[in-house]
Amino acid sequence: MFAHRRKVQRLSYLREVIQGVRLTTRSFASTLASEQQRLAGQVAIITGGASGIGAATARLFTRHGASVVIADIQPSLGEKLLKELGPQAEYVECDVRREEDIEKTVNTAYALESRLDIYHSNAGIIGCVGPIDETRIDEYDATIAVNLRAAVIGFRGQSAS
Ligand SMILES: NC(=O)c1ccc[n+]([C@@H]2O[C@H](COP(=O)([O-])OP(=O)(O)OC[C@H]3O[C@@H](n4cnc5c(N)ncnc54)[C@H](O)[C@@H]3O)[C@@H](O)[C@H]2O)c1
Repeated sequence: MFAHRRKVQRLSYLREVIQGVRLTTRSFASTLASEQQRLAGQVAIITGGASGIGAATARLFTRHGASVVIADIQPSLGEKLLKELGPQAEYVECDVRREEDIEKTVNTAYALESRLDIYHSNAGIIGCVGPIDETRIDEYDATIAVNLRAAVIGFRGQSAS
């Protein structure tokens, strides 16, 4: 009698475990599916997107369903990345030191879906480093133009679009 009850208990325990595994698998699958759609329908600009961190971001964003505009000064790398990413990506020749290039990039992005959701100001250079008494102001200006000023122009363009 006791042996029979123990067997029934073991079976119902097993049933609960299997049900738990099924539920976990189902919720994991739906989390994965919703994660894959995290940027669906969104449009992003990635400056300096032709290589390095920017290119990795472009891959990630398109995998999540976004359309991306890669803004860079390396057309050959940009075109190569476009072949990999397919129709969800566009390349714009854009030197972020030039306000009109950023404006052109924002307009290109906006023309895709009449929206601009993400401006990833990623283009950057190591620029001027070293002791202050050896710092050349023209090099300092050039560094600030890429690493800081460009971000301000881009964010201003995004909020105006
Ligand atoms: N890699 C790191 O460890 C690290 C650490 C801290 C910060 N960062 C910053 O992260 C960003 C990306 O770094 P990364 O390692 O991928 O660098 P990277 O040099 O591989 O990529 C930078 C990209 O910016 C582009 N770029 C440079 N000047 C530009 C300009 N005037 N206009 C348009 N595009 C221009 C380059 O062509 C290049 O594609 C940079 O801003 C960098 O300063 C990187």
